[in-house]
Amino acid sequence: MATSAELHARRMTAVPRGIGHATSIYAKRAKNAEIWSEDGKRYIDFGAGIAVVNTGHQHPRIVAAVEEQMKAFSHVCFQVTPYQSYVRLAERLNALAPVAGPAKTMLVSTGAEAVENAVKVARAYTGRPGIVSFSGGFHGRTLMGMALTGKVVPYKKGFGPFPPEIYNVAFPNTYHGVSSEESLAALKALFKYTADASTIAAIVIEPMQGEGGFYVTPFDFLRALRALCDEHGILLIADEIQTGFARTGKMFALGHAGIKADVVAMAKGLAGGLPLSAITGRADVMDASNPGGLGGTYAGNPVACAAAHAVLDAIAEEKLCERAAAIGKIILDRCHHMKGRSNLNCVGDVRGLGAMCAIELVKDVSGGEPAPQLTQTLMKVANENGLILLSCGTYGNVIRFLPPLTASDAIVREGMDIFEASLTEAVARAG
Ligand SMILES: Cc1ncc(COP(=O)(O)O)c(C=O)c1O
Repeated sequence: MATSAELHARRMTAVPRGIGHATSIYAKRAKNAEIWSEDGKRYIDFGAGIAVVNTGHQHPRIVAAVEEQMKAFSHVCFQVTPYQSYVRLAERLNALAPVAGPAKTMLVSTGAEAVENAVKVARAYTGRPGIVSFSGGFHGRTLMGMALTGKVVPYKKGFGPFPPEIYNVAFPNTYHGVSSEESLAALKALFKYTADASTIAAIVIEPMQGEGGFYVTPFDFLRALRALCDEHGILLIADEIQTGFARTGKMFALGHAGIKADVVAMAKGLAGGLPLSAITGRADVMDASNPGGLGGTYAGNPVACAAAHAVLDAIAEEKLCERAAAIGKIILDRCHHMKGRSNLNCVGDVRGLGAMCAIELVKDVSGGEPAPQLTQTLMKVANENGLILLSCGTYGNVIRFLPPLTASDAIVREGMDIFEASLTEAVARAG
């Protein structure tokens, strides 16, 4: 039996270093919110495979659906011999996604691919080239995904040139001193000085930034964006890849702002760990592309579709939106308690929507300087203590909490106990 340490050494030889590693824990098996490593050690999973297994690891319903589909067929290609589960999933997403009027859905495999296709349909519909995105935003690792992403290291450095006609505007991040008004002014300045609004096909935004640092996009800003898009005939693309599928306490985070998008990109939580993504958009927008212009060999794989149906059933029956709100409350209450602890003095901010929560670590609370080193130490100590954590943020100083929504209160509390003990230890180690 190979240990995690041995496997990690082999990995460093066999796999390129460009593929990051948040931990060096090698998974052997997983169940709901727990993972057991090759070394036989148990971990509480506060990462959910980066917001993917909202329905927990090995949800019995998903496992059964996948097994049944595997016995029937695993691939025939939807463009060749279509199948019912794709069509039914499109119907279900058309009914669920925050899109105004009749909707249509296409399925692909990854988040980045969903974003690529959202841009394609927006350009085909409007006949315009320009796309606007925001600083700190993350939209994937393909060329268009990178171009839209508002963080250079590690996502863009060395990978250019990027597609032209992409404009990045300051995200309304009040914690870091950018108000909604300032961000709107930056957008209007872009239209005035750089690219006329009539050349912009779409504005792409995460309703809550994920990789960028778990900053909730102010709801007033989202509403103002909707109005601005309507005024100029620009499409609003909501990237709900990380926020979707009950994570924020609503099926989609846009629901918190009470607005609809023209196209919604989704992935991650959609299929409980199988590679499936989707874009759901206004039917007229989705129909603008020529037949054959959209799709892909594996797009809408039937095993992944079967898993997605089981996920949607589980979200509804197990009331996972409500669970997200309850889990988020446990996490945020505990983080606020840590913020109040004078002997920690490193919790700069605590925030979240539903079970998409974060704590931002600083060198000391009065100065507010980001503490990426402390964050790294904390992640390592948490691993030693049996907890898997993920970081994020422009300065690498944010811990994001993403437990499966099927986790019990007891597991979430146990994870938070480990978290607080690990933070205390990390602060002590930092001296
Ligand atoms: C908001 C957002 N968009 C796009 C992506 C890219 O998804 P994928 O890694 O599946 O290509 C991610 C992945 O983290 C994401 O969080």
